[in-house]
Amino acid sequence: MSKKILVATEKPFAQPAIDGISKVVSEAGYKLVLLENYQTTEELIAALADVQAVIVRSDKMTAEVIERAPQLEIIVRAGAGYDNVDLAAATKKNIVVMNTPGQNANAVAELAYGMMLNLARKGFTGKSGSELKGKTMGIHAYGAIGRRVAEIARGFGMEVIAFRPTNPVARVQEDGTRTVASAEELYSSSDYISLNLPKNKETTKSINFELMSKMKKGAAIINTARAEIIDEEGLLKMFEERPDFKYASDIAPECKAEIEEKYAGRFFFTPKKMGAQTEEANVNAGIAAASQIVSFFKTGDKTFQVNK
Ligand code: 3PG
Repeated sequence: MSKKILVATEKPFAQPAIDGISKVVSEAGYKLVLLENYQTTEELIAALADVQAVIVRSDKMTAEVIERAPQLEIIVRAGAGYDNVDLAAATKKNIVVMNTPGQNANAVAELAYGMMLNLARKGFTGKSGSELKGKTMGIHAYGAIGRRVAEIARGFGMEVIAFRPTNPVARVQEDGTRTVASAEELYSSSDYISLNLPKNKETTKSINFELMSKMKKGAAIINTARAEIIDEEGLLKMFEERPDFKYASDIAPECKAEIEEKYAGRFFFTPKKMGAQTEEANVNAGIAAASQIVSFFKTGDKTFQVNK
């Protein structure tokens, strides 16, 4: 019987991405099933009942969801961060989990600049703002998104520095980005800090008051990673104790209401996670996900597996 591939997206892809995924799936002789804009976990579980593969975005593939997907062989997160997939539960059931690294990096990097310009130009209110040229862009973690943030920074005439302890220094230096030795040095030397860290046990709440308090006067944090990597108690303390501090985030922190009430003009939050929400990124990540599933089924290819 032909394999069924489910696309389960609470936040749907643009139509051209669905068209591209559909083409890849049908040319391989498989069947595509769509579950878009769903509201409940039960709907997701029901749709998973008879499929062998699923493509998701930030959809929550919890242990319960995975355990109740009897025929599932592969989950592909069409995107970079896979903190929404319970890897241990998948591994227990011999389900391969993959992401599609780099496919939406440009969209996320461009959004970082959209948010940066919003802060620099004081929310486009008509008040005199500042320029990015000549400022220092500090990149915290230097994967595909961090590298793209660096490239764009050079176009703006910014100086670029980066810190990522897990990356080989040589790789960062190859493209002209200067590395700094510690997160503290990055925070104390940058006018804008772009957070490009994955969310995991080590990074959750890792951007804390101690680190943020090292920031230069007037500096801003731009968070296109995950809201949870910021320690919100520390964030509120920064807003309170450092009237020069600004923060932009895709998406808003839990303490959004308090920030909105007390710190007008110093923040920007997207209403829904927007980083990868472009037609181009949807096409890139969606088609990559479908192609990875097809090669896994046809040849056993496990490139991009993240639960090894
Ligand atoms: C990612 O990790 O790839 C981005 O955060 C995009 O998430 P999304 O697919 O839910 O928009």
